[in-house]
Amino acid sequence: MDGSRTLRLDGSGPLLFGTFEISAVGPRGLERALIDLILENDTVGPVARGHPWVYSGGVRGSAPVGELVRLLDGRGRPVAFGLADQGDIVVRVLGRHPLPLGELLPQRIHAAQAWRRAMVPAATDAYRLVNGAGDGLPGVVVDRYAQVAVLRLYSQAWVSHLPLLVRALSQLPWVRTVVRRLGVQRVDGGRGLELLAGPEAPEELVVLEHGLRFLVRVRQGQKTGLFLDQRENRHRVAGWARGREVVNLFGYNGGFSVHAAAAGSGRTVTVDQAPEALADARENFRLNGLDPDHHGFEQADAFHWRPPRQVGLVINDPPSLSHGTRSDGAARSAYRDLNAHAATMVERGGLFVTASCTARLREDRWLEAVRHGVGKAGGPWVQVHQAREPADHPVAAGHPEGHYLKLVALLRSGVPRASRIASGDDGCTLGADRMGAGRLGPDRSTS
Ligand SMILES: C[S@@+](CC[C@H](N)C(=O)[O-])C[C@H]1O[C@@H](n2cnc3c(N)ncnc32)[C@H](O)[C@@H]1O
Repeated sequence: MDGSRTLRLDGSGPLLFGTFEISAVGPRGLERALIDLILENDTVGPVARGHPWVYSGGVRGSAPVGELVRLLDGRGRPVAFGLADQGDIVVRVLGRHPLPLGELLPQRIHAAQAWRRAMVPAATDAYRLVNGAGDGLPGVVVDRYAQVAVLRLYSQAWVSHLPLLVRALSQLPWVRTVVRRLGVQRVDGGRGLELLAGPEAPEELVVLEHGLRFLVRVRQGQKTGLFLDQRENRHRVAGWARGREVVNLFGYNGGFSVHAAAAGSGRTVTVDQAPEALADARENFRLNGLDPDHHGFEQADAFHWRPPRQVGLVINDPPSLSHGTRSDGAARSAYRDLNAHAATMVERGGLFVTASCTARLREDRWLEAVRHGVGKAGGPWVQVHQAREPADHPVAAGHPEGHYLKLVALLRSGVPRASRIASGDDGCTLGADRMGAGRLGPDRSTS
């Protein structure tokens, strides 16, 4: 990356970014500068109610990508304004009353930060700062990892406005470095990381999540480094893990496993197909004073892998199973079969925590597939918890398609093995130190 294009965070950096000059246009001047587009009648309602996208068939007229446009109804009345885009979505809607981006971006980013200040839990410095349309910036995602802001653009419309985005982000007190993570098809076609402001981001950094330490690789890690959307679920599920052996399917860098082990679970086994994720999982145990040699790390296809025997907690967090041309029905079958497979690993009295990160499959249909799957594994089951995206992943009220994360926790009826042993139900009176005798392997209690 050409260092001369980066903004310096002390404000002394150049205002020129490539060939783009940052200009301040007042609202009146701005209105004159906007290109007017006419919304089709059936698009007016959704846009007025806050839907952030206008599809190509929803508008008459066009504008160059990245230009500010005013959206009018058929009678010429202003409905909203936004940025012209290309492809299926031709306008990213920014709101009702036009504002120059030089004002809008700092306002929205500061509002996003104010909400995170209110909701981010203690001892946590990794969270989503900007969640696209949920924070009034459709197509823009910014994740915080300690002092590094990782920006991802899901729309060409923002590319020419990068300097303003970077400048607004740089005003936040924690920001030392701003990088752009490339790899969004049809937007950048690139790979890796682009430095936008401040010093280079370290290859590895350590962040805090509910007081636990995790290694993050902003250049190579999946997503922007961590699956931040599961943060609260990792913390919550850990509270149920005490004394249970854990299988963490599609476990990435061991987030659920580390949280569980730190909360006093029995042995955890993290299963993932990516060897580098498993290497990081081992490191994450070490970072938290937990001996990885007392836990399992299996590089395997989780659709087929099985533990030697059933355990008290199984977490199933696959990548999206609904993509490309796969039909709704095919996606439902895939979720049903995977959940049937994973649920057979849960012992009586055990917990099954299962998730989906696919927006394309409706929640009720996914739940039906899960119920069908666990039913095949033998029940009965009761649902004890259900969750969606965490509060740092807000979804615009007029944009229900923005919901994607689904999670349920199901309890398999019966008495867990650990409780049977502890209460002497098995006819023995084993002490706590004997409880490990039947476990999957060596164990380490952190209690
Ligand atoms: C949604 S992420 C899991 C996030 C994780 N639960 C967390 O809290 O960070 C899905 C993971 O599944 C892994 N994966 C994808 N296909 C797999 C397969 N067939 N078998 C095992 N792991 C797979 C990916 O490497 C990725 O780490």
